Amino acid sequence: MVELLGGKYEVLELAGEGGMAKVYRGRTHGAAGFARPVAIKRVLAPLSQNPEFLKMFVEEARVVSELDHPNIAQIHDFDRDQTGEYYLVLEWVDGLTLSEWREGYHAHGNHTPWNLTAAIGIEVLNALHAAHEHMDADGRPAPIFHRDVTPQNVMVSNCGVVKLTDFGLAKAMDRSSITKPGFVKGKLSYMAPELTYEAEPSAQTDVFSVGVVLWEVLAGEKLFKGKDPLKVVVTIRNMEIPDLSEFRDDLPERLLEILRKALRREPAERYRSSRDMARDLAALLRKTEEVTDAHVMAQSVRWAREQTRTRASEPATKPFAAQEALARAGGADETVPDTSIPLTRRK
Ligand SMILES: Nc1ncnc2c1ncn2[C@@H]1O[C@H](COP(=O)(O)OP(=O)(O)O)[C@@H](O)[C@H]1O
Ligand SMILES: [Mg+2]
Repeated sequence: MVELLGGKYEVLELAGEGGMAKVYRGRTHGAAGFARPVAIKRVLAPLSQNPEFLKMFVEEARVVSELDHPNIAQIHDFDRDQTGEYYLVLEWVDGLTLSEWREGYHAHGNHTPWNLTAAIGIEVLNALHAAHEHMDADGRPAPIFHRDVTPQNVMVSNCGVVKLTDFGLAKAMDRSSITKPGFVKGKLSYMAPELTYEAEPSAQTDVFSVGVVLWEVLAGEKLFKGKDPLKVVVTIRNMEIPDLSEFRDDLPERLLEILRKALRREPAERYRSSRDMARDLAALLRKTEEVTDAHVMAQSVRWAREQTRTRASEPATKPFAAQEALARAGGADETVPDTSIPLTRRK
C-alpha cells in the first residue's frame, strides 16, 4: 500500500528545492486506475509554522488559482498533511527549466538560439500580461504581479509549451518576516532597481525581470551577481548592463534594442505592458525564416536534455540542434521537416 498525501496524492521523488519549498513529482489517483502526474510543493518547516506567511500564502494561492492561461502552471490544490505541514499541488510540467535548457546549449560551448529564446520570452510575457490584466469577481482590475520571474520559474515542456510557475508566491515571502538567505539572493538578481528601494511591484518590474532572464539566457552569464545580497543590490543599483554584442555577434540589433528597453532604469521608459514587449519580439520573429513553433521548441528541449547528459563523455559540435536530437534519440525521422535552428558557437 502506498501512503497517499491527504488521501489523494502519491509522492514519487524529489524534483527540486528552492528557498521556500521542496518540489516533488507525484500523482493523483482516481477510479479504475486513473492516475495523473502532479507537482507537490511542500512548504519548508520554518515557514510552515509562520502564521503570517501562511496567511499570505493561502491568499495568494487562492488568487493565483483563478488564473487560467496556457502559459501559467495551474494550481490544483492546497492542503496540509497529518503533521500539519502545508503543500501546494500544481500542474506537473514535464520538461526543463529555462536554466536547464540554457545549460544544455552551453554544455558543449554553444549559444542558445536567439529566436527560440525570443519565442520563449513571448510566451512568458503573454502569461504575465494575462495576470496583470486580471479582474476580480466584480470586474474591477485586480492585477497580479509575478515578482519572481527567474530562469528557474520558467519551464519549457517536452511538448514545447512554456509554463510560468510560482505566480505571486514571492509576495507571501516578502510580507512574512522570515527570509532565508538563499532565497533572497536568488530572487534579488532579477529584481528591478526600484524594488530595492521598496517600490511596489508593477507590470514594469515584471518586464524588467523578463529582460534580465532573456539577457542571461542569451549571454550565458549572470547579469547581476555578487557574493552576498548586499553586493547584488549594489550591482542592480549601478545598472551596469553589458551590451549583448560583447558576448555574441549573431543577435539582431532590434533584439538588443528590445532588451535595452525592458532593462531601462526608469520604469516609465520600459515597455508599458508585457504585451507591448511580446508584440515587438513577435514582429522581429516574423522577419526571420526560421520556425519557432511548439514542434521545434519540443525538439530543442529534447536536444538540450541530451546535451547535459553527454557533457562529460563526448564533445558534440553538431550543426543543427533539433534534427540532431532526433538522430540521437535513435529515431532519425525522415518525415520531420527541416525546421531546425542552427547552432552558434560561443566565443
Ligand atoms: N510544476 C512543476 N513541474 C515540474 N517541476 C517543477 C515544477 N515546479 C518546480 N519544479 C522543479 O522544482 C525545482 C524547485 O522549485 P522551487 O521550489 O519553485 O524553487 P526555484 O523556482 O527557486 O528553483 C525547480 O527548479 C524545478 O526544477
Ligand atoms: Mg519556482
